[in-house]
Parts: sequence; structure tokens; C-alpha cells
Amino acid sequence: MMQAQPNSFPPVPPTARIVILTGAGISQESGLETFRDPDGIWAKVRVEDVATPEAFARDPDRVHAFYNMRRARHRTSAVVPNAAHAALARLEREWPGDVLVVTQNVDSLHERAGTTKLIHMHGVHSQARCNGCGHVVPWDGDMSTANVCGGCGRAGGLRPHVVWFGEMPLEMSRIQEALSVCDLFISIGTSGNVYPAAGFVRLIRRIGQAHTVELNLEPSRGANLFAESCYGPASQIVPAYVDGLLNGA
Ligand code: APR
Repeated sequence: MMQAQPNSFPPVPPTARIVILTGAGISQESGLETFRDPDGIWAKVRVEDVATPEAFARDPDRVHAFYNMRRARHRTSAVVPNAAHAALARLEREWPGDVLVVTQNVDSLHERAGTTKLIHMHGVHSQARCNGCGHVVPWDGDMSTANVCGGCGRAGGLRPHVVWFGEMPLEMSRIQEALSVCDLFISIGTSGNVYPAAGFVRLIRRIGQAHTVELNLEPSRGANLFAESCYGPASQIVPAYVDGLLNGA
């Protein structure tokens, strides 16, 4: 059930700088599982087994199998950008001010929908990085310990170019700079459990001046920190919100 609350905010000026944070919920209707919903990924596998540097050091085959499965799922023709991804790409194209999407998602549905100003703060599973020399290359197929790094020529060190628990998210200084000067911050499809992304709304309240909006299926952990919220499936509420912005609502 879609609930908008409240509707009395002044129109956002067309010069407003917009930062949009997205999480797994925006890709759920594209056929990709979220992490913390009852049927989500972390209900089936343990973080400690597949998403930490220690897990990779202990059992790289298991970690590779997990990401190979996710990469393969992403390659299927059933997984395509949905109306929410398309709406954000449209916002970037049509909004006169700056629009930056910061995603926690390692899928590439935002870029496939046409978003170009995009930061993958948790990396992407369609790239490999060498643990030895740091070389990063595109990677669409399966990955294993037998693969040889094109940079240093060593085998065994290639890993998915994603950020695991205990590792530093990517491009944090660029993200913080954008958050500190933005006028509108929209959080979409994230449960607010994982930092630093879960702390962005607090950071804005402390050092920024942006109007803050949550668009999610249900209230996130930090829901009360947002000035405005709308709850429902992303494929419905995101296009509606973008329409409102572009029409000066
Ligand atoms: N539309 C909108 N929101 C949805 C939809 C949908 N169709 N389906 C689910 N959601 C919401 C859920 O209600 C939940 O609040 O999306 C959110 C997904 O939360 P998580 O599964 O915790 O995903 P996310 O917040 O992106 O996780 C953050 O944790 O383990 C990791 O590294 C992983 O980047 C990920 C990080």
C-alpha cells in the first residue's frame, strides 16, 4: 500500500543538487533478492562464510561459488532494469541540476537503465580485482582460484571487486562531498542496517541542509530521521516521485 506523508513540502527548485542512495530493494522487482527480507540472501547463507576477507582467505572456492551464482543470475534475460531504475535515469536526463546516484548494489541495473552519474560504493560483481597487485578487470563469467591476473601474472588472487564486511566502501570522500552540498537526499530500497550508507541521513542532518526523503517498501531502521517518506514497491513510488519532481510538485 502506497502511503505518502506529508505532501506539504515546498517544490524543490530546479537547480537543486540531488543525491540518491539506493539499496537492494530497488532491484527486487528486477528479480534480484534483497539481503534482509525474510527470503533474502542472508536468510540462506551466512555473511561470515561468503562476504568477509577472512571467508575468502579461509575458503575462496566457497566465496567464488556464491558470487558466480549471483553473477549468473544477473546474466539471465529475466533480470532487467525496472521502472524505478528507468525513472532515476530519466531524472538525471531531465533535471536541470546535478543528480548523483550512490548505490550499495553490486548489480549493473542502474547503468543498464541509462544512469551515468553513478557511484558503486560497494563495488560491482562484474569486475575482478587482484588481491596481489590491485589490477581491476571486467569479469562476466565464473571466477576461480585458477584464474591468472592479467596485471601481475599470478594465479589465486583474483576476487570479485566488491566491498566485503570489514572493508572500506569505495569513493567515500566524493560521496561525503556530494552529501554535504546537496539540496535533496533520497534513500530508496535500503533497510538502513549497513554503515556508512545507513549514516548518510544523519550526516546530512549534522553538516548538510538537504531535504531528506525515504522511498521504501516499509520504514527502514532510520525512518524517523527522514523529513518525508513514501512506502510501497519501488517500481511504483519512484516513478511517481520523479514525476512529481519534474512537474514541480
Ligand atoms: N521496493 C522498495 N523497497 C523494497 C522492495 C521493493 N520492491 N523490496 C524490498 N524492499 C526494501 C526492504 O523493505 C528493505 O528495507 O528494501 C530494503 C532492502 O534491505 P536490505 O536487504 O538490507 O538491503 P540493503 O539495505 O541494500 O543492504 C545493504 O548490506 O549485506 C549487505 O552489502 C550488502 O549492499 C548491501 C548492504
